[in-house]
Amino acid sequence: MFLAFPRKALFPLLLILSSLTPLQAQWAPLAYDSNAGQRIAWWREARLGMFLHWGVYAIPGRGEWVQWDEQIPTDQYAKLADQFHPEHFDADAWARIAKAGGMKYMVLTARHHDGFALFDDPGSNFTAMKSAAHHDFVADYASAVRKAGLGVGLYYSPLDWRFPGFYFPDLYRQNAVELREQYQRQIGELASNYGKLDILWFDGGGNEWLGFGGLEFTGSGWRTRPQSKPYSGRFDWQDVQTVARLRQLQPDLILNDRTNAPADFRSREGDGALGDFDNQHPWELCTTITEGAWGYQPNAKVKPLVQLLRLLVGAAGRDGNMLLNVGPRPDGQIDPAQAERLREMGQWLGQYGESIYGTRGGPWLPGEYGVSTHRGTQVYVHVLHPPRNQTLVLPALPVRVVSAKLLQAGAASGNLPFLQTAQTLTFNLPAGPVDEIDTVLKLELVGPWTTSAVVPVPAP
Ligand code: GLC
Repeated sequence: MFLAFPRKALFPLLLILSSLTPLQAQWAPLAYDSNAGQRIAWWREARLGMFLHWGVYAIPGRGEWVQWDEQIPTDQYAKLADQFHPEHFDADAWARIAKAGGMKYMVLTARHHDGFALFDDPGSNFTAMKSAAHHDFVADYASAVRKAGLGVGLYYSPLDWRFPGFYFPDLYRQNAVELREQYQRQIGELASNYGKLDILWFDGGGNEWLGFGGLEFTGSGWRTRPQSKPYSGRFDWQDVQTVARLRQLQPDLILNDRTNAPADFRSREGDGALGDFDNQHPWELCTTITEGAWGYQPNAKVKPLVQLLRLLVGAAGRDGNMLLNVGPRPDGQIDPAQAERLREMGQWLGQYGESIYGTRGGPWLPGEYGVSTHRGTQVYVHVLHPPRNQTLVLPALPVRVVSAKLLQAGAASGNLPFLQTAQTLTFNLPAGPVDEIDTVLKLELVGPWTTSAVVPVPAP
């Protein structure tokens, strides 16, 4: 609120750096305690989740950053709460749409950077309980999602644009401490009042964003801090203590890496950040189902099915998850065009899901041909770019292939001819129209594939 810099001017450096270095820890190290592998196991199998960005910013319908982008004074923005009465809010309907889309977990913005809490926090004046709706949406959401058998996830932003102490944690120390108190109190409320949670998805926490987007005062002016040099003043978010308490309250909870505390998985953001294969660190690509913002924008263009499914296949083949975002309307409904796209994804997954759910990336690394996934003795080759002559040649695996078939309606039982030598595996793909989305070959190996082993595929 004191800084009149447009948001876009503040973040390019961070964005460029993070898109170039997708495998490096961005905010937090990963947790390597003895339960880490067991905690994350269900999530790795789940592969696809639904993200929901929803709050009072749905009313103006210009995205969740509208307050910042348009520099709307906080007292004026706060009045949106008086108009917030989502008459068609139905958490069961959200969960049904997620299930129909083949999603296995959901993550709802309990509170975004604007500070509006979708839950009951008696310590804040800017909550759904004190809005026109007088309702705790997180309560309905958590029980509906749980009842639907999906993983219950909440997004939470420690930063809050209403606090000057966030921008200047040293100058406005007392205010920064109040922000931290809000963070600790609200995390405590979320962890205590809504039953068992499965995911806490942090955003805008940690020292990377503290002091806002890495601005520092050099004595002669403001400049953007390099990403390798986060905020280093005297204010402490106390992420490590806060997250330790959170884990005490919710021992099975998994967390992403956007605070300074040890995390369970890494976040990659946006279609362009699919990045490299990584089967060492659990990771998730979050992206939007529409072009544009994460929060509701009327008439936002829904991305084509082929684009969304190829992102999912691309993530699975790089050994990651995908968290696909919808921004419900101010009335609480998910836009029908978005729900329809999700149903189409779910239909595809109904047919090809065995090549995605419960698989790990590899044995072949991604390449010109596409990607691969495996589960035990089964290997799936996702041919995204079929060779022109229908002959796909991959480096041989050290484990013998006993059969190959096309995973396709009508062709499921037909064996696919292939040739196996010490060096190569050659498949003759059927002639005819190429599958626009993904031609999936299912191979059966003589023994299980060891997930940690990978086979590079040289460029043709
Ligand atoms: C970006 C957006 C933010 C959104 C987040 C989700 O950082 O700026 O609004 O919540 O992505 O990862």
